[in-house]
Amino acid sequence: MMAKCLTLLLYIALVWCCFNNTSAYCLANETDRLALISFKGSIDQDPLGALSSWNDSLHYCDWKGITCGHRHRDRVIQLNLGSQGLVGSLSPHIGNLSFLRSIFLENNSFHGPIPQEIGRLFHLQTLYLNNNSFGGEIPKNLSSCSKLKALKLIVNHLTGSIPGELGSLAKLEALALSINDLSGTIPLSLTNLSSLSIFNLAYCNLHGEIPVEISRLQGLTFVQLAANNLSGKIPSGLLNISTINFLSVAFNKLHGSISSDTSPSILTLPNLQFVYLNFNQFTGTIPTSLLNASGLQEIFLAGNSFTGLMPKELGKLSRLQIICFALNQLQDDFSFISSITNCTSLQLIQLDQNLLRGVACSMESPRDRMQIQAVVSGIRKIKDVYENHALSQSHHIENIVKHEGEGIEG
Ligand SMILES: *[C@@H]1O[C@H](CO)[C@@H](O)[C@H](O)[C@H]1NC(C)=O
Ligand SMILES: *[C@@H]1O[C@H](CO)[C@@H](O)[C@H](O)[C@H]1NC(C)=O
Ligand SMILES: *[C@@H]1O[C@H](CO)[C@@H](O)[C@H](O)[C@H]1NC(C)=O
Ligand SMILES: *[C@@H]1O[C@H](CO)[C@@H](O)[C@H](O)[C@H]1NC(C)=O
Ligand SMILES: *[C@@H]1O[C@H](CO)[C@@H](O)[C@H](O)[C@H]1NC(C)=O
Ligand SMILES: *[C@@H]1O[C@H](CO)[C@@H](O)[C@H](O)[C@H]1NC(C)=O
Ligand SMILES: *[C@@H]1O[C@H](CO)[C@@H](O)[C@H](O)[C@H]1NC(C)=O
Ligand SMILES: *[C@@H]1O[C@H](CO)[C@@H](O)[C@H](O)[C@H]1NC(C)=O
Ligand SMILES: *[C@@H]1O[C@H](CO)[C@@H](O)[C@H](O)[C@H]1NC(C)=O
Ligand SMILES: *[C@@H]1O[C@H](CO)[C@@H](O)[C@H](O)[C@H]1NC(C)=O
Ligand SMILES: *[C@@H]1O[C@H](CO)[C@@H](O)[C@H](O)[C@H]1NC(C)=O
Ligand SMILES: *[C@@H]1O[C@H](CO)[C@@H](O)[C@H](O)[C@H]1NC(C)=O
Repeated sequence: MMAKCLTLLLYIALVWCCFNNTSAYCLANETDRLALISFKGSIDQDPLGALSSWNDSLHYCDWKGITCGHRHRDRVIQLNLGSQGLVGSLSPHIGNLSFLRSIFLENNSFHGPIPQEIGRLFHLQTLYLNNNSFGGEIPKNLSSCSKLKALKLIVNHLTGSIPGELGSLAKLEALALSINDLSGTIPLSLTNLSSLSIFNLAYCNLHGEIPVEISRLQGLTFVQLAANNLSGKIPSGLLNISTINFLSVAFNKLHGSISSDTSPSILTLPNLQFVYLNFNQFTGTIPTSLLNASGLQEIFLAGNSFTGLMPKELGKLSRLQIICFALNQLQDDFSFISSITNCTSLQLIQLDQNLLRGVACSMESPRDRMQIQAVVSGIRKIKDVYENHALSQSHHIENIVKHEGEGIEG
């Protein structure tokens, strides 16, 4: 009875408010408004004044960074405050914005945990918290956001292992966790993410093997597992995912051969453009039979124990820009060089520290000088590659680049 009265009173108040038409709270969901006020209350510094429009004289749907719905005009569906220099923590009240579809808070300085309450956002499709200072564990509760398509947490200080619960996010297309202080293994459950296209787990302190079940992810395009402590072999099923265009397992402890007569090889991936297998313990020859990767632009195999001849078939790949085979046990007589004269896009060939015979170029030759130039631009290029794929915390990069440099100068 009491409750009914209250509801009636609220209703009257609401009608009066809308009839009066002067209040900014007309047609406002009080829950959303309070959640946003609490969000603002957890921000310690707002150097660019991003939240200065968040005041009582404007309806919250008109606040900077806020988008409300079309059908539910008073409900917040998007929070878009990337690159605003915000410093603070993320209020757990965010879990009350129950109509939210996207959260863009990347490139700020949020610290503290990612609130468990985000798991109450059943409509959430996009969560970008990359390039902040979030700590604590990745909330298991994210697995309740069953509509989630993109989860980007790259460059933070997240700890603990990757929650296996994330494997239930059937709609997830992008999982990007690179550069965090994680540990543990790649959860097998992630091979259940059948919509996955982007799998970005570089620099996450992961160990163990790449699950062979990864071959179930037949929509993968971007696979970035560099700079972990992964061991074992590359599952041959991974080399059977024809959609892959970027594949990096660089700086791990992977071993085994990447070529055989019976299983597919890297270069049979028809859409491959970038491949980085450098600094592992791979052996065997560089496979070129059944070469399908006609769009290949960069191939890094440096710092392994590959043997056999330089693969002259690479000369058929007209888009090749970088060939980096240094620090292996490859043999050739430099006829390889003439075989790649058709690779007109080539910017860098790096073959030193192999068992090359034949016409060794002296350090003074113009070609060498050109090559050294190319090596320098190659380092920049490598840096770009890592940056482009958000592997960029500067000391990590320097570290990676330094490793590359060892291969180049050593
Ligand atoms: C709207 O409400 C305010 C009090 O909040 C009142 O002063 C004003 O006269 C009202 N306007 C109309 C058009 O009813
Ligand atoms: C009432 O609110 C609507 C929507 O905000 C606005 O377009 C309209 O001008 C307002 N009317 C008055 C009399 O203030
Ligand atoms: C506001 O949103 C909450 C949570 O979705 C809901 O329970 C409440 O009924 C809404 N209030 C109004 C006035 O629509
Ligand atoms: C509220 O924000 C708007 C938009 O930034 C601004 O024009 C207005 O002066 C602010 N009002 C107060 C009371 O701060
Ligand atoms: C965040 O920073 C990255 C790298 O600098 C940039 O590509 C991206 O567009 C930025 N995001 C926003 C919302 O500015
Ligand atoms: C909103 O969220 C906070 C923290 O999760 C909670 O304490 C509060 O009761 C929620 N509801 C409303 C209406 O603000
Ligand atoms: C991180 O954010 C800062 C501040 O917006 C920006 O300068 C930097 O480029 C971003 N870095 C990355 C890797 O996105
Ligand atoms: C975690 O998610 C569940 C399911 O959405 C929700 O019921 C629960 O309240 C969430 N936990 C917290 C701490 O918000
Ligand atoms: C993958 O999904 C199936 C079907 O939902 C489930 O039975 C299985 O346990 C899941 N596997 C893992 C490793 O989570
Ligand atoms: C990598 O794993 C090996 C065991 O496989 C372990 O001995 C070593 O400490 C690990 N290294 C790092 C950097 O975690
Ligand atoms: C690769 O795919 C082919 C055709 O779909 C299949 O017959 C073969 O067993 C697969 N190989 C591996 C190692 O998954
Ligand atoms: C370079 O391309 C031409 C024209 O397609 C071809 O005839 C020649 O054999 C190619 N050379 C090598 C080394 O592949």
